[in-house]
Amino acid sequence: MDADATPAATDPHTSDAVIVVDHPLAHARLTTLRDRRTDNAAFRGALADLTQMLIYEALCGAAEDPVGIETPLVTTTGSRLATPPLLVPVLRAGLGMVEQAHAMIPESNVGFVGIARDEETHEPVPYLESLPTDLSRTPVFVLDPMLATGGSMVHTIGLLAGRGAVDVTAVCVVAAPEGIAALATCSPPVRLVTAAVDDGLDENAYIVPGLGDAGDRQFGPR
Ligand code: PRP
Ligand code: URA
Repeated sequence: MDADATPAATDPHTSDAVIVVDHPLAHARLTTLRDRRTDNAAFRGALADLTQMLIYEALCGAAEDPVGIETPLVTTTGSRLATPPLLVPVLRAGLGMVEQAHAMIPESNVGFVGIARDEETHEPVPYLESLPTDLSRTPVFVLDPMLATGGSMVHTIGLLAGRGAVDVTAVCVVAAPEGIAALATCSPPVRLVTAAVDDGLDENAYIVPGLGDAGDRQFGPR
């Protein structure tokens, strides 16, 4: 999959790349997610599948530790992740990504952030925070399908920065250019792994073409 992942833009803040997973299977699952006829169950299934591809890419190049093992024939050296990332789903919509991400990295711990966007102002309204106190030595993968204005992600990065995090990756299904620009203002610098950079936002700050409300499409309207 790495061969098909292309840097779509360069973060002017840090020169970290925005990585777009550009693969036929990712395109197919994204099409299912975008299609308004997709029901909630099929939406959750496609989101789980696509999360697997995004996590696979997000871990490309991660540090590994050697592990001595015995095959049925000889003693040899294998490897394991040196520092498994903390997984942080942003509720509600990020919940649909965490099970698959955790299945791929079972040794990871999981923290939780809850944010609901104000429908009038589009500002993030935080309602839950459950994170380890010290993240100074822990890579963090923030899981949220949608990066729209970027307000929710920027708020989450602030919570992580307050706990000393320096290695943060945003794992999103769809990103708007406005959200990417907002991420570029963050400290620590944030890497973005996504399946698509869409055209922009509409008057309600929804991503266009987008896929609608990712929380409602998984769990029903609030
Ligand atoms: C959605 C989405 C992000 C946020 C993105 O959540 O899951 O968290 O909006 O928008 P932003 O980039 O403009 O902040 P929402 O607030 O709809 O809550 P939900 O996940 O509970 O549906
Ligand atoms: N949140 C969503 O769920 N979808 C959007 O397009 C924007 C914010």
